[in-house]
Amino acid sequence: MRRAAGSAREDIEGIDRGAPSLPAGTLAFCLRYGRIYLLFVCAIVVLEAGQSACSIMLPYAIKRIMDGVAAAQAGSGAVLDLVEAPLWLFALLNLGVVVFSRASGTLLVILGPELRRRVRRELFAYLQHHSQRYFMSNFAGSLANRIAEVAMSVAYTLWTVLFDFWPLAIAFGVSLVLLGGVSLQLAGVLGAWVAVYVTVSFLLAQRCRRYARDYAAARSVVSGKIVDSVSNIMNAKLFARRDFERAYLDDYLDLEVSRARRTFWFMEGIRWFQFLAAMLLMIGVIGYALRVWSAGGMGAGDFAMAASLSLLLIEQARGLSRRFLDFFEYLGNINDGVAMIVRPHEIVDRAAARPLVVSRGEIRFERVGFGYGQERRVFEELDLVIHAGERVGLVGYSGSGKSTLVNLALRLFEPQAGRVLIDGQDVAGVTQESLRAAVAMIPQDPMLFHRSLMENIRYGRLDASDEEVREAARRAHADEFIMATAEGYDSLVGERGVKLSGGQRQRIALARAILKQAPILLLDEATSALDSVTERNIQDSLAHLMQGRTVVVIAHRLSTLAHLDRIVVFHEGRILESGSHAELLARGGHYAHMWQMQAGGFLPERDDEGGDDAAAMSAG
Ligand SMILES: Nc1ncnc2c1ncn2[C@@H]1O[C@H](COP(=O)(O)OP(=O)(O)OP(=O)(O)O)[C@@H](O)[C@H]1O
Ligand SMILES: [Mg+2]
Repeated sequence: MRRAAGSAREDIEGIDRGAPSLPAGTLAFCLRYGRIYLLFVCAIVVLEAGQSACSIMLPYAIKRIMDGVAAAQAGSGAVLDLVEAPLWLFALLNLGVVVFSRASGTLLVILGPELRRRVRRELFAYLQHHSQRYFMSNFAGSLANRIAEVAMSVAYTLWTVLFDFWPLAIAFGVSLVLLGGVSLQLAGVLGAWVAVYVTVSFLLAQRCRRYARDYAAARSVVSGKIVDSVSNIMNAKLFARRDFERAYLDDYLDLEVSRARRTFWFMEGIRWFQFLAAMLLMIGVIGYALRVWSAGGMGAGDFAMAASLSLLLIEQARGLSRRFLDFFEYLGNINDGVAMIVRPHEIVDRAAARPLVVSRGEIRFERVGFGYGQERRVFEELDLVIHAGERVGLVGYSGSGKSTLVNLALRLFEPQAGRVLIDGQDVAGVTQESLRAAVAMIPQDPMLFHRSLMENIRYGRLDASDEEVREAARRAHADEFIMATAEGYDSLVGERGVKLSGGQRQRIALARAILKQAPILLLDEATSALDSVTERNIQDSLAHLMQGRTVVVIAHRLSTLAHLDRIVVFHEGRILESGSHAELLARGGHYAHMWQMQAGGFLPERDDEGGDDAAAMSAG
């Protein structure tokens, strides 16, 4: 049996066709982008090395100038002659710092945004291929955040290496060489200091990382609580629980504060280390140089160089722990984001998948067994054939598996046993794109993009003209209310369509499906939110839409189904009855019982519609 989504990480196979193949490891993920922009990276490496070498050699130029001045004082010639060459060196080094650093800055301006765009695009493209189940357990907001975070962190990881660690390594190296020229012992002292400083910074950063992660987790819990509270602001208002919500949040804020303090205390400790280490280096280098100098072992210029080198180094090495810490944080972000997004896709096109060819539109469920999780099966050995061109209604209590059946036909989920066939082709063996292109589906709770109504309807067929869009809207009886809005077809509908009423949203979804002109039509409670008069008006359009198509209509309101070719009654995933409206009524079973329960309220008889509609309206 197929394993549940949680353990899907272990089977490596699944990258869906058409999705970018991204590495799932943190380092590999970063390296991928380092490789893609290798030329940029190499250029920055060279430029940053130049920049760092130039700036760390400035003390050397100063030493040469001082040596010249000293020589002039000793009477070996005119000052200007003696210091001319060192002055040029000094000027050139300064110029070098400016040119190299600004050149690499320019590359950064070009590369930075491009790199982030690429990471975002690829992660988004990968994400699109995830299954319905995946999107049910990972929330849109947090996925979007992850993508943004990973993109930023990949960029910062690269920058930290290229613009912090690498120049620092060059600076340490050049200083060692320069000091070695003056005194090997001095170079030895510096070398030892560097080794200890880098190691301790690294270790402290690693220790601190644990605290920083706890702190970050507490922060994100607080944000999550706020998001949840804001999304449920209606509940907070309706139950007058604003104070309660604030008090609820306070507990999490307290946790955040205590974790923040712990992290910051630790960082403060790191700073103690850094300041003390800097102090020791300064005192050590200058004290030692003074001793060598007084013993006549070096000139004034050497002394000045040693002093300013250590100053420069301290300046550059300051905050190394902090940078290590940030570096770990970026790597952690990438690790988390990649683990969340770059997992195997649950539902993938098979290697041999072909486009679905719909010639007639027959849908066949063969001994289908399916459950969403391990616990309870929705279907067990389900057999159902929906013939080509047949219009079938599905009824059954809430939770009996009607929407699930439709999900399986669209391969939004896969059965654990049995097959679903469309015109003899197993839906698991055809491409998902072609399958979903062949089916127009109105889901139970249709969502709309926060785009204009025109764009939302045109989503059914992107090349439809404005007139075709309007025609579809007219057929769905959406045109009237659209034209009544201030901006007509250009109106925006709010996040997920919240600015429309439930029934209006359904009519937009209907118009979209009408435009799609697919050979198979699945309507899951497509008209449930409409009043019976509007629904009745739409029936004509629906009848027109259903012509020559295979149709499955799911509805609780039985009058919606009464005129269909066949009605299938579901209960707990099993088919209880099946037959036309009249047959089922005559049979006096489950359906007949349900019909009786609903009659009077919603269900007008054919010959006295008007009266019953009026009754329905006044009752509603
Ligand atoms: N994504 C899901 N994950 C886990 N269980 C689910 C999921 N969707 C549905 N179920 C469960 O599967 C069963 C069948 O649900 P389904 O949505 O198919 O019912 P339905 O007949 O469409 O009900 P309704 O008339 O209320 O729309 C229910 O017990 C439901 O709780
Ligand atoms: Mg349903």
